[in-house]
Amino acid sequence: MRSNYCGELRREHINSNVQLCGWVDRCRDHGGVIFIDLRDRTGSIQITVDPDQGSSLFRIAESLRNETVLQITGTVSSRPPESINEKLKTGEIEVLANDLKVLNEVQGTLPFNVSIHYEEQVKEELRLRHRYLDLRRERMKNNLHLRHRVIKTVRNFLENKEFLEVETPILNRSTPEGARDYLVPSRVCEGDWFALPQSPQLFKQLLMVGGIERYYQIARCFRDEDLRADRQPEFTQLDLEMSFITQEEILAINENLIASIWKEVKGITLQLPFPKLTWHEAMERFGTDRPDTRYGMELTNLNEILQGIGFKVFSGAIASGGSVKCINVKGGNTSISNVRIKPGGDVFSEAEKAGAKGLAFIRVRENQNIDSIGAIKDNLNEAKKIELLEKTNAREGDLLLFAAGDTPTVNKTLDKVRQYLAKELNLIPLEKRKNKWDFLWVIDFPMFEPNIDENRLEALHHPFCAPNSADLGDEKSEWGARLPEARAQAYDLILNGLELGGGSLRIHQPELQMKVLETIGLPVNEAKEQFGFLLEALEMGAPPHGGIAFGLDRIVMLLADEESIRDTIAFPKTQQARCLMTKAPAKVSTAQLEELNITSTLPVAEDE
Ligand code: AMO
Repeated sequence: MRSNYCGELRREHINSNVQLCGWVDRCRDHGGVIFIDLRDRTGSIQITVDPDQGSSLFRIAESLRNETVLQITGTVSSRPPESINEKLKTGEIEVLANDLKVLNEVQGTLPFNVSIHYEEQVKEELRLRHRYLDLRRERMKNNLHLRHRVIKTVRNFLENKEFLEVETPILNRSTPEGARDYLVPSRVCEGDWFALPQSPQLFKQLLMVGGIERYYQIARCFRDEDLRADRQPEFTQLDLEMSFITQEEILAINENLIASIWKEVKGITLQLPFPKLTWHEAMERFGTDRPDTRYGMELTNLNEILQGIGFKVFSGAIASGGSVKCINVKGGNTSISNVRIKPGGDVFSEAEKAGAKGLAFIRVRENQNIDSIGAIKDNLNEAKKIELLEKTNAREGDLLLFAAGDTPTVNKTLDKVRQYLAKELNLIPLEKRKNKWDFLWVIDFPMFEPNIDENRLEALHHPFCAPNSADLGDEKSEWGARLPEARAQAYDLILNGLELGGGSLRIHQPELQMKVLETIGLPVNEAKEQFGFLLEALEMGAPPHGGIAFGLDRIVMLLADEESIRDTIAFPKTQQARCLMTKAPAKVSTAQLEELNITSTLPVAEDE
């Protein structure tokens, strides 16, 4: 139906006869001559319809509405100098139409403008409701093209390194992996349920037992969790796994993979290797395991200086095993008023969201004089004060913000406040925001974290991560006792404060796997019921193996400079996990439910 794409025509096509297809981007009537901007996925070109070409042709052109689907034939010609449009790649030429065929019309009113000439801000709800129209617009079109290029680069890179692409099942059994499962009832096996995969974790391990050695998949994953800008209920992982490999080798392959994406898509050469930070150091310095290292304002631990001082909020927290930490907001003395740090203020409320009960502060005045909230100042002697100012690198005009209490809450509080203030004080200037790629491996995670509500330990990543062998020792009889404190051979890749991916070496000995499942409080019979297939496979010659999964949507989001992964997915769900276009999820018929032996416990609505 077409000889060329609209957007690829250039001066060298002048005098060629072309046949083009696309959408009417806009139409302009310039005193007798009609200009149609015809757009396809490559761009747009000006079509000129002259009444001299015949009245029927002109009549069609006159009545064209935006987004009409059109086929045209004509001759490429150069534009008169005064009408050259330098902003368009096709701006030096036009096509003089000698035939126009309407392939489909637009009925009714379009909900929003699609044209490349209008950068109209359209409400996301409307965009999602008519996503097919939104996909025709520049922004989404570019993002999907970018996504495609990322996937292509990944495939190229991995296939050159002998990775085999293998698909794993979507209908699985439910296994605890952190988030809630999406469940699917089985009609044939009455009363039983499938779960959609939260990740292909166990299958990729079983592929290693199956001798595949190097696997990858662009894998769809499903998690029924609270949604945010960087989380969707249905998302895509770039998932890979390797046998006979060390952690260092895995990290090296993966940072090269990431570097090849940035090179191909952005033309940027990333500095390798990426820096590494242990989990412990990340928590200590940034209060989070995914630190944004593009700016400073790091946390300072003040336990040593402040233990035993008269200010009980501080000394009490330290005495009961917690911490006092602070961040130094440079110049904060003038930029941040007391109202904002006290209850009811915006900075205070950030701290409150993290569970803090208060946010103490010190303002550094002239000659190292300080002002403080409450009694801190009165309980610091001159020597302690100097020590404190030195340790926090505080100068005249600075504001010190303190959190005190149990260490996880202190970390969470100052992490939140640090991120909030960094944005507000513009610590990452716009030009840096676009071009600063601070990659970072966080390594040496703990194996477990406490689940306070259930009074047990739970796996920090998942219960298949291998413990650090140095922490575990060789004595099998001691594994049970040593495991809770052991570090995992796990790693996350962080970019500008966002978790791009995570992985680990895996447990390949069945008895160790069983011990880890016991440590998270899974009774032996339940462990065997849920993970019997894995334990059995590990008994049949499982090689040492490990891998990683990246959030593909997040990678594309950062490369496209978008704020939400919804703008990198063709048909995403809303924050309420709905598709506004198809209106999924939706009710099903009683007959469908009966066939599946399902009844609802929800009260029946009155009108039903
Ligand atoms: P993890 O749970 O860390 O690891 O997931 C890997 C990466 O997937 C992305 N991600 C998400 N992206 C969008 N929406 C979500 N709801 C969502 N949840 C996670 C993140 C994350 O870093 N099986 C392990 C990997 C392994 O050990 O190999 C796993 O799934 O970018």
